[in-house]
Amino acid sequence: MTGKIKTRVTEILGVEHPIVMGTMGYQSFAEFVAAAANAGIFTCLASVPFRTTKELKEEIRKTKSLTDKPFGLNINLFPMLSPLDPVEYTDAAIEEGVPVIETSGRSPEHLVERIKSANVRLMHKCIGVRHAVTAERLGADLVEVVGYEAAGHPGRNPVGSFVLFPLVADAVKIPVIAGGGIGDARGIVAALALGAEGVCIGSVFMATQECPVHQNIKQRLIEARETDTTLTFHSKGDPMRALRNALTEHIEEMEQNGASMEDILEIIGGGKGKHAAEIGEADWTIMSIGQVVAQIHDVPTVKELVDRLMNEVTVIRERLNSTIG
Ligand SMILES: Cc1cc2nc3c(=O)[nH]c(=O)nc-3n(C[C@H](O)[C@H](O)[C@H](O)COP(=O)(O)O)c2cc1C
Repeated sequence: MTGKIKTRVTEILGVEHPIVMGTMGYQSFAEFVAAAANAGIFTCLASVPFRTTKELKEEIRKTKSLTDKPFGLNINLFPMLSPLDPVEYTDAAIEEGVPVIETSGRSPEHLVERIKSANVRLMHKCIGVRHAVTAERLGADLVEVVGYEAAGHPGRNPVGSFVLFPLVADAVKIPVIAGGGIGDARGIVAALALGAEGVCIGSVFMATQECPVHQNIKQRLIEARETDTTLTFHSKGDPMRALRNALTEHIEEMEQNGASMEDILEIIGGGKGKHAAEIGEADWTIMSIGQVVAQIHDVPTVKELVDRLMNEVTVIRERLNSTIG
């Protein structure tokens, strides 16, 4: 038996394995995205760091020069996060021939017609059954659903992955990609058993050689336990799960004292926070990460991680066949 799994997700996305490496807002640049694509999985370039469509188009071209495999573009629709109008990102992706657009943060309704008429696939990431049903009704080809344990923005409804995945799989006909808390092959097999046809894994890919964060931060992830994350940025209206550190505790205090989002952003982007990520000052930078951080033990290459996951899937399938069958 081989570790190969063919589902509608692998078919639609045109990839070898049913794994999507979760988009990381300030890490998913050309080299990292190409490493994932070349390892046989799907992922998306981030759009948030690009302040002009020219810059974004250059990054898309750079990615294409590093891989001949498909990749997508993530468009975060949460208003405070994007420097450009989402329509501009969408048009840039279409003009550059990107085959899949991943939306997240808000309903993609105003973009659907544009995306579909360009024959581009729409993959929408959401946090609950209701949103998944809406995405399907609007015309999404795939829906990603993430549980409360996930990195990024897990929403305000604390529903965990194990409850969410089968409910969403029952509620929609389009293929479901399940994310949040998947750290190894056992999580992949479990998500497939719960009705998903693919998985979205973010946190554990942050601890890979190609992920553009400082080695000190990767080391901090190796040391972290499942209880070491917190939800931060409540005043932004859409909390983010991050590793608890001196900075998140400071922000929590500021939020309790009524600080504005501008004040908070000043702390992160100015003063001490300014170069913290670059110099690996893990206590003074925001590291979005999920509870599954506890399953990070080393820093492999993206390909080593994918191969390890898929080999372990084979071992689990064999074990299940011999014990259940
Ligand atoms: C460092 C980091 C940055 C992220 N940034 C984004 C983002 O900008 N947009 C988004 O939709 N998801 C973002 N995510 C969430 C992932 O794409 C994915 O949904 C999530 O990590 C899956 O759950 P897991 O972390 O438990 O594997 C980020 C995750 C990490 C680890």
